[in-house]
Amino acid sequence: MTAKQPPSKKQASDKQGFATRAIHAGQEPEPATGAVNVPIYASSTYVQEEIGKHKGYEYSRVSNPTRDRLETNLAALEGGVASRVFASGMAAINAVTSMLKAGDHVLAGHNLYGGTPRLFNQVLVNFGLTFTYVDTSDLKAVERAFEKNTRLVFVETPTNPLMELCDLKAICELGHKHGAEVVIDNTFMSPYFQRPIEFGADMVVHSTTKFLNGHSDGLGGVVVCTKAEQAEKLAFLQKTAGAIMSPFECWLILRGVKTLAVRMLQHDCNGGGVADFLSKHKKVKKVFYPGLVDHPQHELAKRQMSGFGALISFETGSLANANKMLRRVRVCSLGESLGGVETLISHPATMTHAALGEEGRRKIGITDGLVRISVGIEDVEDILGDLDQALGAI
Ligand SMILES: Cc1ncc(COP(=O)(O)O)c(C=O)c1O
Repeated sequence: MTAKQPPSKKQASDKQGFATRAIHAGQEPEPATGAVNVPIYASSTYVQEEIGKHKGYEYSRVSNPTRDRLETNLAALEGGVASRVFASGMAAINAVTSMLKAGDHVLAGHNLYGGTPRLFNQVLVNFGLTFTYVDTSDLKAVERAFEKNTRLVFVETPTNPLMELCDLKAICELGHKHGAEVVIDNTFMSPYFQRPIEFGADMVVHSTTKFLNGHSDGLGGVVVCTKAEQAEKLAFLQKTAGAIMSPFECWLILRGVKTLAVRMLQHDCNGGGVADFLSKHKKVKKVFYPGLVDHPQHELAKRQMSGFGALISFETGSLANANKMLRRVRVCSLGESLGGVETLISHPATMTHAALGEEGRRKIGITDGLVRISVGIEDVEDILGDLDQALGAI
């Protein structure tokens, strides 16, 4: 009997469908043994045959085989040329802004995940970067906010937690007209429902902590690039600043993305059901969800997203009401974060957006009664039943 040969390498290409790429791009069987899962290369260093002669790996801050596979996979899902992964979503955003230099101006959406303006306003301003915040759903306001030294436009769509949309094609055209690169934080949609590079974005970032991982068991971030120079600069920042993703966390995401397509379909289906239920509930004053026909940008949502996702915010009327209902949830878990298989419910004013301060929140419309829900993939009847009994406390 001849020794077993490793299985032939399946070439994943852009021509394959999304779910196929999620399972196979960068996830080819391991050549030495045929293992179908990418191994966790838990090694900080690599043996060299002689000075300068090695197999492409020298030290794991610089590169690691598990990380390489994940970077290949995520680039394939977003349609970029390469990607670079970091220790968290914030580390990824920090890496993007570290590509700038003192004197550069950043034009940012006024309603971002609270940690992003915290990084901009409390850290990066000390290094000579300047920031202007603008409602990116208002393109005229965006156009007026450009300055001669604007190098980067940083946008989330839909925004967190108010679910406002930005026209991706239009903002990319505007950014390019003014000589700036456009970076989209695509965490809320995942590449399954929205691929900003197809609309002209220069880079896409994600907190992989959310839908890409999908199981609330690891932190991470990624920057997907459209140009080799961006990927080179970011690889330099991985090596130099060192905020890299560990091989174990890379493996968790490689495993998580294999079910991204089916998870997102179920998230979307349950999200639609919950939004519909909340919009008819007498205790709920307002629902923010781009899938509802009365969302002011529903048509834009249909144009640039292939699903509406699982993030919904709703108004309970007051901090006391929000607290009463949040204390009562049982199937939904009260906690920060989003994008896991479990339904997570949170209070933006005291959690994700606390750093904005009362005035900052008031300016953009985040009230004390606002509750955000990241609808999971449990049986939707159980989520609805839980929300109904919890809202009964108001
Ligand atoms: C839209 C968005 N971007 C970035 C981040 C930051 O990601 P991380 O918590 O992985 O640092 C978050 C976290 O909640 C987020 O919601």
